[in-house]
Formats: sequence, C-alpha cells, structure tokens
Amino acid sequence: TTDLTGRHFLKELDFTADEFRGLLALAAELKAAKRAGAETRRLTGRNIALIFEKASTRTRCAFEVAAADQGAATTYIDPSGAHIGKKESVKDTARVLGRMFDAVQFRGDAQETVETLAAHAGVPVYNGLTDSWHPTQMLADVLTMTEHCTKSLEGITLAYLGDARLNMGNSYLVTGALLGMDVRIVAPRAYWPAADVVARARMLAETTGARIALTEDVAEGVAGADFVATDVWVSMGEPAEVWDERITALGPYAVTMDVLRATGNADVKFLHCLPAFHDLATQVGREVAERHGRDSLEVTDEVFESAHSVVFDEAENRMHTIKAVLVATLA
Ligand code: CP
Ligand code: NVA
Repeated sequence: TTDLTGRHFLKELDFTADEFRGLLALAAELKAAKRAGAETRRLTGRNIALIFEKASTRTRCAFEVAAADQGAATTYIDPSGAHIGKKESVKDTARVLGRMFDAVQFRGDAQETVETLAAHAGVPVYNGLTDSWHPTQMLADVLTMTEHCTKSLEGITLAYLGDARLNMGNSYLVTGALLGMDVRIVAPRAYWPAADVVARARMLAETTGARIALTEDVAEGVAGADFVATDVWVSMGEPAEVWDERITALGPYAVTMDVLRATGNADVKFLHCLPAFHDLATQVGREVAERHGRDSLEVTDEVFESAHSVVFDEAENRMHTIKAVLVATLA
C-alpha cells in the first residue's frame, strides 16, 4: 500500500511517478470499497482544516465527503472567514492551525502561500488549486482516463485546448510528462505554459519516455488523441475585462464536434475540470458570449452532453482521489 505519511501535496512533482501511481491504485480501491459498502474508516478522530480564499464546489465537497467517509472531521474556512494574510501572516496562521489540525488544505491565488503554510504548519498541507497548479485535479483526471481507456498510461494521448498558461495547462503538461504520456498543448503561443514549466516537462520526458508537444494547430494537436480536455478561458481572480480578448484568441480552440472528429478516434473522450461554460447558464457567460454571437464558450453543449463526455465521472473521482491522499498521508 501507498504510505506517504506526513507528506505535503503542493504540486504534482512532489511525488514520484510510482507514488502518483500508488495514489491512483489506492483511490481505485477506496472507490470500489465505498461502492461495495465495505469501506473501512482509517482516519477516525482526525481533524482537517480547509482554507478557501476562492470559491469551490467540487474540491470543498470532495474533501468534506472523503474525510467524513473515513471518520475525520473538517473545518471549512471561507474566503472572508479568516485573518489569514490580512490581520495575521500566513506563517502565524500555519503555526496556529498546525497545533489544532492533523492536515490543512489551501485554495487561493499564490503558490507561495501554500508553500509557506507547508513550511510552518508541521502537518501535511494540500494544494486545492493555486494559479500555478491543480494537483488533486490531476489525480482525478488520470484515474478517469484509466477507467475510460484500456491502454496503459504510457500509451495514452491527451490534447489540452485553450488557456494553458495557468493551473490546468501547467498541471496536465507536467503530469503527462511524469507518467510517460503523449501530451499536446494546443493553443495560441501566448497561451502556452511558461518556458520554465515546459523545460521541466521536457526534462522529465527524457527519463519517462513521455512525448511533449506544443502547437497552435488544432488538427495537428488533436490527431490520434484518446482524450481532449479544456478549461475556462477566464480563471478565478482574473478581471471580467479580459473576456473579449480571450474569446478572440481562444475561439478557434473551442472543443466542438468537429474537433472531436479531427482526432480520428471514434471513442475519444472529453474532459473538463468544471465549472464549464457550455450552455451559458451563468450570467457572465451569457452576456459575454452573446456579444460575440456565440452560444457556448470553451466547449459546445453538444460535446458536453455527448457520449464522449466523461466530466461527471471526473468530478466524482475528485472525491475518491482526495480520499486516497488523506489516507496515504494521515492514516
Ligand atoms: N474542478 C474544481 O476544482 O472545481 P471547484 O472549483 O468546484 O472546486
Ligand atoms: N483554471 C480554473 C480552474 C478551476 C477549477 C481557475 O483557476 O479558475
């Protein structure tokens, strides 16, 4: 079994490929046990703090349900509900929470904040999303890929379309590199991951056998893909004013049925970490899309609702994989 006692999870590369695979195996075990009504509680009496500087549906609920299933208690600290970083430094907050809790989850803007928490808490700290990385999301996405593809990870091709400068683009690139996958970043050059992230991925790929490609050409990027993924074009914390430039730049990279057909793979699957602007149910999406004469943004409703889409399996897997992280680091 995977023993990562006391370890932090601040970014994907905190774990070796073997450790990452161990967490996936543990997640699959925990998922099967829960489904069979045979889950054993290994975290009874533990307490976990959940700091959210930004909103969340999946990540918050995944931590809360995973902890409850395993007998642990959680305390949710909402974006307005703590002194952290305002009246009290991150370092002091870390030392206080470390005296009361067995682990701390943090979601916010800066990777530096979660690193500072980890340096001073004295207990495991988990990154529930920063601008730079979304490591718990990667566990869920890779578990979902293994469930929907008979190939081994080294045989899987993943094409990520859209804004690749932030958490999702960075995380897919290094995770794919770590696990020996074929990863393509398909976006205008200005939206590719930063040069240091690409260099890191290329170095890893040399040892893992991963294939890394960055391209502006959609047809070339998605050819032969087993999975096509995307993310919102404007991330949390970015100003609404950037919508227009994003739609202009990223419009050609929206995931449509034509894009799925261009993979040449009738079984291609679609991934999205969610939330998604596919049906313009939200005010911001509707207003901005109408201005551009669009009825969807990064993915069409047709793709999102199609048999290709595995986004709700992916969302469910957030819980099973986060549970694996808790069990591996705390049990
Ligand atoms: N995918 C994801 O992290 O969702 P939430 O923002 O709802 O947590
Ligand atoms: N890139 C998105 C991911 C949301 C889960 C954001 O940071 O808002």
